[in-house]
Amino acid sequence: MNRWTPRTVAAALCLLSMPLAGGAARAADAARAEEIVQGQCSICHGPDGENSTPAFPRLAGQNAVYVARQLAAFKTGVRRSPTMQPMVAELSEADFAALGAWYASRPTHVHPVEDPGLAVAGRALWTVGNTPAGVPACAICHGADGHGGEAIPRLAGQHAMYVYRQLKQFGGRDTTRDNASMHLIASRLSDADMRAVSAFVSGMK
Ligand code: HEC
Ligand code: HEC
Repeated sequence: MNRWTPRTVAAALCLLSMPLAGGAARAADAARAEEIVQGQCSICHGPDGENSTPAFPRLAGQNAVYVARQLAAFKTGVRRSPTMQPMVAELSEADFAALGAWYASRPTHVHPVEDPGLAVAGRALWTVGNTPAGVPACAICHGADGHGGEAIPRLAGQHAMYVYRQLKQFGGRDTTRDNASMHLIASRLSDADMRAVSAFVSGMK
């Protein structure tokens, strides 16, 4: 008996085409993300997630899951930002995932540190923390290389000014970002600590 009935042939073709469909879906997601980025995001975050002014965070190489979660948080207002909320109001969860994957895949670059002296002081805080003040090493969570992970943002190469502002907001509980660890840690940093560690991470690769 011939086992290749039309039904088995259809099933086999379907199986064969599955990886192709996956690839096509990813390509469609990437194209959609590219369209959104160049149309709505590049003016502040740069055409490649990199070439932004210091007021806006770099996104090239940022973790895909982290980016998607932040975008969802801006939409619901969990992370309140009058600038970002309208940017994502019309976008879907699928768009957020596609944008996350797109930014994560952009190449990162090494940036000169504006104040190398400050960065030297920041390195100690990053690698060993400040035990008397109750500050753990940032590297414990953000990674020795500052590349972060799904729950934790990449800080390597981030604009010092953006990092400093986020620390200020966490420390003063002047943010709706709901992260107990960062609130506690930042509340124990002096202004000089914040400036130093921000300078240090901005020069990490
Ligand atoms: C008018 C400028 C502007 C535009 C346009 C803009 N953003 Fe933003 N974006 C910001 C600012 C400012 C912040 C920092 C918000 C804060 O203070 O928490 C931010 C933060 C973010 C963050 C969080 C980064 C982090 O490290 O936590 C992501 C992700 C992001 N934007 C993605 C996007 C995407 C995707 C678009 C396009 C749909 C976009 N942005 C359009 C200004 C902008
Ligand atoms: C216990 C783990 C932990 C430690 C230690 C830690 N962080 Fe974080 N950090 C986090 C998490 C988790 C987030 C993301 C919070 C969110 O999703 O809103 C974060 C977010 C941040 C952000 C926001 C980045 C962005 O892209 O918006 C900055 C800046 C930051 N941390 C700096 C530091 C510095 C500097 C230190 C050391 C002094 C440090 N962190 C230590 C867990 C940690």
